[in-house]
Amino acid sequence: MPSPLRHVHFDTVTSTMDVAREHATRAQPSMSWQLITAERQTAGRGTRGRPWISPPGNLYLTLIIPRAALTPARLGLFPLDTGLAVWDAAAPLLPPSSRAALRLKWPNDLLWEGRKVAGMLLEATADHVFTGVGFNLMNAPDIADGGTPGGRLADAGLDEAAGLPLAKAFAENLRTRLSAPAAPETVAVNVLAAWRARAQWDKYLRLRDRPGQPEVLPLDLNPDGHLLVRHPDGHQEWLVSEYLA
Ligand code: BTN
Repeated sequence: MPSPLRHVHFDTVTSTMDVAREHATRAQPSMSWQLITAERQTAGRGTRGRPWISPPGNLYLTLIIPRAALTPARLGLFPLDTGLAVWDAAAPLLPPSSRAALRLKWPNDLLWEGRKVAGMLLEATADHVFTGVGFNLMNAPDIADGGTPGGRLADAGLDEAAGLPLAKAFAENLRTRLSAPAAPETVAVNVLAAWRARAQWDKYLRLRDRPGQPEVLPLDLNPDGHLLVRHPDGHQEWLVSEYLA
């Protein structure tokens, strides 16, 4: 039976990533998992150095994971595992009629009806991995840089009071996923199958950092978590790290 997850909730922080790093350096022992949540952030961070606009009404969390919990077999697929834990936390809290429109966008955005309702930021030190998730519950801040338009989980039927249950469910899901003993090849098969089943496959995505921002169709994943896409001229490419919208 795993020990209860330590959870500290704040009203306002700069970023839950900053608070998590402070807590991790103080944590005794450094093996413990901790969940940091906040009602708002004054300096929320998104991927690629972009800000994450963090008004009240949404939920901001960072899960502190001891580095030792990530076996080599898990490490490469960790971004996908994180997305799965987010999907699996949110789906049961939505009315059944809303769940089919809840999809994952590679590597780990959560979409509802094609709009981004959660984003994830992963950072690490020698001893810890910091998994940050911003859930758009009641607000969909404007996306000014041409990224995927934001949506609200409230529009999918999420209850106003579901923020903290959602955060805790995410943390427990990820801890359970990472703690499950399995051979490396089984880990990859399971993660890829679960991710394929929850992903959005039928929509073109824009490669935002490429000249002309070509639109590509996602086709498949490989055991390293790379995404196979088809370009408009028919040629195929494996994406390792790319900014998609
Ligand atoms: C993205 O750009 O899609 C990633 C967004 C990650 C935002 C979350 S909110 C909680 C945690 N604290 C931050 O400053 N960022 C992450």
